Amino acid sequence: MKKIGIFYWPVKGNVATCAKKIEAEFGGSQTKLQTIDNANSESLTGLDLIIVGGSTTGADSWQQARGNNPWFDFYANFDKKPLAGIPVAIFGLGDQILYPDHFVDNMKMIKVEMEKAGGRIVGRWPTEGYDFTGSEAVEDDKFVGLALDHDHQDDLTDERIGTWVKQIKKEAGIS
Ligand SMILES: Cc1cc2nc3c(=O)[nH]c(=O)nc-3n(C[C@H](O)[C@H](O)[C@H](O)COP(=O)(O)O)c2cc1C
Repeated sequence: MKKIGIFYWPVKGNVATCAKKIEAEFGGSQTKLQTIDNANSESLTGLDLIIVGGSTTGADSWQQARGNNPWFDFYANFDKKPLAGIPVAIFGLGDQILYPDHFVDNMKMIKVEMEKAGGRIVGRWPTEGYDFTGSEAVEDDKFVGLALDHDHQDDLTDERIGTWVKQIKKEAGIS
């Protein structure tokens, strides 16, 4: 059976809600859901697909000292354990009404780090159906991962997740 690891942050809130929905969409026991602060070389070993999700909460939180920001510790796991072509799918929570110029920016940072570790990014997502003016997470007219605005489009979250999970399974060769 293929093994899928879902890693997310922060512990509570929209990201956690959506991470649980993604896990439910896979069904069965092939997925393991955990917060990024619990990731270690053991939990990152032998995975056929890695899913990483977070929210964009402004530049301030990204500029915290390394010791205070769990994302830096998460990325450090990959210094020791390169991903060597393992598929990585990203999802990002954001608010397109209050932050239209920086919608789901954080997905780009996750992408850069995962690619640096040798991961193969899957699950790029169309920008249609959103109303925003700028996002670092858009490349070649697509988001680098699944964009979710659970503040203003929660009625679309389940459908988006359902479609995206089918897409990443296909791209990662998981039946
Ligand atoms: C201080 C703060 C800054 C935010 N900055 C952004 C932003 O730059 N871009 C964006 O798309 N959303 C931004 N958001 C919205 C959050 O990403 C969004 O509400 C998300 O669903 C929060 O998920 P969480 O509760 O799991 O962290 C911001 C929210 C807060 C509280």
